[in-house]
Amino acid sequence: MKAKMTVNNAFTISEIDPRIYGSFLEHMGRAVYSGIYEPGHVTADANGFRNDVKALVKELKTPIIRYPGGNFLSGYNWEDGIGPVEKRPPRLDLAWKTVETNEVGLHEFCDWAREVGSEVNMAINLGTRGVDAARNIVEYCNHPGGTYWSNLRRANGAEAPFKIKTWCLGNEMDGPWQIGSKTAEEYGRIAAEAAKVMKWVDPSIELVVCGSSGSGMPTFAAWEATVLEHTYEYVDYLSLHSYYNNTKDDLPNYLAMSEGMDRFIKSVVAICDYIKAKKRSEKVLKLSFDEWNIWYHSHKKDSKREPWGVAPPILQDIYNFEDALLLGCLLITLIKNSDRVKIACLAQLVNVIAPIMTEKGGPVWRQTIFYPFMQAAHHGHGTVLRHNIDVPTYDCDEFKTVPYVESTVIYNRDKNEVVVFAVNRSTDERMDFAVELQGFTPKDIIEHSEISGHDIKQTNTKNDGRVSPKVAQAAEVNGNQLNAKLKPLSWNMIRVKVDA
Ligand code: AHR
Repeated sequence: MKAKMTVNNAFTISEIDPRIYGSFLEHMGRAVYSGIYEPGHVTADANGFRNDVKALVKELKTPIIRYPGGNFLSGYNWEDGIGPVEKRPPRLDLAWKTVETNEVGLHEFCDWAREVGSEVNMAINLGTRGVDAARNIVEYCNHPGGTYWSNLRRANGAEAPFKIKTWCLGNEMDGPWQIGSKTAEEYGRIAAEAAKVMKWVDPSIELVVCGSSGSGMPTFAAWEATVLEHTYEYVDYLSLHSYYNNTKDDLPNYLAMSEGMDRFIKSVVAICDYIKAKKRSEKVLKLSFDEWNIWYHSHKKDSKREPWGVAPPILQDIYNFEDALLLGCLLITLIKNSDRVKIACLAQLVNVIAPIMTEKGGPVWRQTIFYPFMQAAHHGHGTVLRHNIDVPTYDCDEFKTVPYVESTVIYNRDKNEVVVFAVNRSTDERMDFAVELQGFTPKDIIEHSEISGHDIKQTNTKNDGRVSPKVAQAAEVNGNQLNAKLKPLSWNMIRVKVDA
């Protein structure tokens, strides 16, 4: 098969906000306890955090991490996680039916995040808490000193404020599974009031208001519209959440699910712009896709669990090759929508539906999905170019005219390079992929790496990381055209040195 893409240096979508390569760490399962934190582990630092895990988080280069939840958030008292550890109360976590020890809290997490080179995207509880707790935590984290909460932070060991810029106003408040779930009216009001006072405490912060917990919710779209009616003036981002699965074991359909993500993003943009028009506002609302990933491998195992354990091994999806391909398509979709999607968080980071896995007392290892994410986080920076593509398509169960190639082209002016990410969805045919780079003088191929050639169900393990990028050397430049051969079922990253 053949595909021809055309881009032009002058026709752009947007600068990429690096925060679209964000991640998420919730107090649940083994994400924190025996994930990032395991005192007694041979690699643990003086504070009990595993250095081997830190090294892989750094390698992933995720610039921002959402914390501490998730469903956990809606029953969490942030004050339980400050002060002397021995005085912190263990609590029932009703979201995941576990016991939270509170050994790790706000200071420990902020220090860890700084060490791994990530910003914190702090979420506040609007399930069981409200405006008072919301204003207090901003004062605790961001006010320099001289007041009750800022002095308490200093007394607890952090002289300088944490300066947390991005804050989420609750989590999935439309979901009946949420502790303290709300109607759109109830949530819209409390979110508006919390947002107002949080920005009074620190006007420099940015706020994310909850959209629907998924596009399949019966209240989807009406929820967004009502919530934004109340909050539009006060907030900066609206959240989207979506998880994908191959429970049907239908590969062409599975790999087309990024089409669903694209449709979801465009629908939410339309709702935001409807409210903008209705309010005669100048403000363009941005999106935070702050939970996205593949989640289904662990469902069966998790349904048999006993409640009230500490850090039980839940949501431990083990990802395979087809998951890495879909993850690549989803990343490309986020990049193509970077004019509105400014933050996105791969859910989650360690052990819980995660690119990084640990064994208690043992090693840390990279899942298959680690790699497309890492390559995008390292090299997917600059300006996304508009493109035209002439490509064969297919129909499948849920989607029509799905392009066999999912691709995007980014121009990194600082590095004089053009970066192409591409997935060939065809199960059996190579794609001869040509990209005409109008307005550029391509020089050399810097790198063509691919993930391909595996059984679609091939996983990585602690001893075998075979699903990983390999040098492809199947790309060349000819005049202003890039020609690449994309193997069937392959993720590709092609970097081209250019003059512009
Ligand atoms: O990421 C796992 C869970 O998925 C989160 O806690 C919740 O927000 C979502 O339903």
